Amino acid sequence: MQYGYFDDARKEYVITTESTPYPWINYLGTQDYFSLISNTGGGYSFYKDAKLRRITRFRYNNVPLDLGGGRYYYIYDDKDVWSPGFAPVKKKLDRYECRHGMGYTKITGSRNNIETEITFFVPIDFNGEVHKVVVKNMGDSDKNITLFSFVEWCLWNAQDDQTNFQRNFNTGEVEIEGATIYHKTEYKERRNHYAFFSVNAPVTGFDSDRESFLGTYNGFDNPEAVLEGKSRNSVADGWSPIASHSLDISLKPGETKELVFILGYVENALEDKWESKNVINKTKAHKMLEEFSTAEKADKALKRLTDYWDDLLSRYTLVSGEDKLNRMVNIWNQYQCMVTFNLSRSASYFESGIGRGMGFRDSNQDLLGFLHQIPDRARERIIDLASTQLEDGGAYHQYQPLTKRGNDEIGGNFNDDPLWLILAVVAYVKETGDYSILKVSTPFDNDESKAASLAEHLKRSFDHVINNLGPHRLPLIGRADWNDCLNLNCFSMEPGESFQTSTSKDGRVAESVMIAGMFVYIGKEYAELMKKSGSVEESIRAEKEISRMEKAVMEYGYDGEWFLRAYDDFGKKVGSKECEEGKIFIESQGLCIMGGLGLSDGKAIQALDAVEERLGTKYGLVLNNPAFTKYYVEYGEISTYPAGYKENAGIFCHNNAWIMCAEAVAGRGDKAFDYYTRIAPAYTEEYSEIHRMEPYVYSQMVAGKDAKRFGEAKNSWLTGTASWNFVAITQYILGIKPDYDGILVDPAIPKAWDTYQVTRRFRGDTYKITVKNPEHVSKGVKSLLVDGKEAASAVIPYAGDGKVHEVTVTMG
Ligand code: BGC
Ligand code: NOJ
Repeated sequence: MQYGYFDDARKEYVITTESTPYPWINYLGTQDYFSLISNTGGGYSFYKDAKLRRITRFRYNNVPLDLGGGRYYYIYDDKDVWSPGFAPVKKKLDRYECRHGMGYTKITGSRNNIETEITFFVPIDFNGEVHKVVVKNMGDSDKNITLFSFVEWCLWNAQDDQTNFQRNFNTGEVEIEGATIYHKTEYKERRNHYAFFSVNAPVTGFDSDRESFLGTYNGFDNPEAVLEGKSRNSVADGWSPIASHSLDISLKPGETKELVFILGYVENALEDKWESKNVINKTKAHKMLEEFSTAEKADKALKRLTDYWDDLLSRYTLVSGEDKLNRMVNIWNQYQCMVTFNLSRSASYFESGIGRGMGFRDSNQDLLGFLHQIPDRARERIIDLASTQLEDGGAYHQYQPLTKRGNDEIGGNFNDDPLWLILAVVAYVKETGDYSILKVSTPFDNDESKAASLAEHLKRSFDHVINNLGPHRLPLIGRADWNDCLNLNCFSMEPGESFQTSTSKDGRVAESVMIAGMFVYIGKEYAELMKKSGSVEESIRAEKEISRMEKAVMEYGYDGEWFLRAYDDFGKKVGSKECEEGKIFIESQGLCIMGGLGLSDGKAIQALDAVEERLGTKYGLVLNNPAFTKYYVEYGEISTYPAGYKENAGIFCHNNAWIMCAEAVAGRGDKAFDYYTRIAPAYTEEYSEIHRMEPYVYSQMVAGKDAKRFGEAKNSWLTGTASWNFVAITQYILGIKPDYDGILVDPAIPKAWDTYQVTRRFRGDTYKITVKNPEHVSKGVKSLLVDGKEAASAVIPYAGDGKVHEVTVTMG
């Protein structure tokens, strides 16, 4: 059963039914103003920060699903009321289609000879959302309809908005000026921002008070004003401010009318806040409305947006024999990487936008899949992240994007965090050649008086691991490593207590083999970066520490057939054949092998075979096996999940990519690619009714083989899966790796592949790389010709001439 199809030429996913297995959403916005939009128009908007600057309201976990808020349109056609995007009225449409594209969504609905097409997007350099509405009379008699719009304002702080009713029901304020409804709650006092909703045509009526529009006991699906075809012209005073317009529209047969609605956000300087007493200064809003006063202007801005995406996506393009692979690499995986870069784990249909800001480890990993798109923004993000690092090299686990300050509620002590910063900086320098970032003076704990160079931050990250070693000279795990649910120092018996923030042990015993693997893998990168940037002594020092760690892992971290996962607070093995449950974990296999451990003596291959045998399923690799079936107080949250879900033997798509990378490092391209196809969305599209989430983006987790709902995904969009799968496919499998002095070519592909081409824009040059595989091998570069000349190694030397270079790689 399929619910839509890919339209690759337009870079769209076309949804053909309003009854998708779950709301299938898209994101609008690339800079500061963001929106979530479902295939029926549900979702919400915010400026920079989904918690602190929420513009429209949304109710999560609402019944019916996805009716918790949205930008809703209604048509009143001779007493027949319907919604062109299906929701919220949900009356049967004669035709429905939703096209999710790069930063825009176009929903078409028709009924009784009226066809309405609405294109939603956030223009480049614009703090607002455009809804271009086209209404057409498809019949052969005149039509007189009324079009209603609707959004509901959030009183800015999304957390407070849904809890503090005793205050909030009294604070709501609006101003109306022609077709524009301004939301100005709290503007009078400490806020310097407002929002507005407008349309580029005279309106018949409006509403700004929710109850007047809906009726006290009605829902979004049957507002009294719409049922009667008449706005109330209400002006909100407390309660719940909204913005709704009504426009009477007459259409001759075949006639079309175009309207442009604008939902915008404005900030004013303190001295410019007012036009007169209690009348807000609307100058900026007027300018924004003028920018979109006609449909042509909206079309132009949409074109600019699609050009912008075409350009971003042209930086890595693939032509291979596999359509599904091409569309993942060329379009959707890169698109998801931009979204995770922008939003980290803050706002999705599974993340409420009020819980988490930007994660330290999350954002550093997100950079890996994003930085080739806009390296300057990656640079800025690296400095923001490093500025929240603590002096001992540890890090705040999260920070709020609006304030850029570390989040005290969650604190630090996740001992993998510091290392991800090194990896992000390495990737940035390899992409850009910009070593100057290492010299940037960067605060610790957001305190300028504690600033030091970024290179010093990296050193402290590296040292944080070696300053925190446990009894086996392996890294102490702290609150948790990458696996947030392996809480070896928590021992919680208190219902509701957070596993991430409660610690009842001193943490000097429990060790992580995963962090050890990371230290070897990322530490080697650190040593190389130090050498390349002229800090030779530091590089030698780092190498010594890495060999010590390698020894410790091979001595205490290998369990005979695979890598152990950890030692718990009692010093007992975790992820060992000696364990009753959770005998093998995926993370340490992936990262240790990516660090090169066990490659020379067959131990890596043995571990990878164990992964396939014990963790492999047709829908991907589960995280651990056997699943935990009871609560282990010494392990924490991992054993709270029913078997097969989340970190307890769910298919965590993020770390599936590490196994792809490890298989590639071990030279087994067939296995690497096989794992890739098991979880890549374009491939899972075939079984959407089981998988249920969007077939164009990765989900964090798919229920594992122990779960009753095996194969069902959850938590789509905001996951490190996006960037790691992009790294796995583009760098490890297709083997096109940015490097300090050029591009390293090192494919690990299925033997059956004959050839593929990658066009890689790199520091202003363009490399057209054709890989040929006449001997049908998985790995090995026999010759590399750059513009007809044999290169000295498998690295395409960086030319720096801004030109196009033809590269032919022959494997064998
Ligand atoms: C989830 C993790 C998540 C963590 C964040 C846990 O309940 O299982 O995936 O990272 O919460 O707080
Ligand atoms: C999701 C979190 O955002 C991420 O930081 C963590 O590594 C994974 N869950 C695994 O627990």
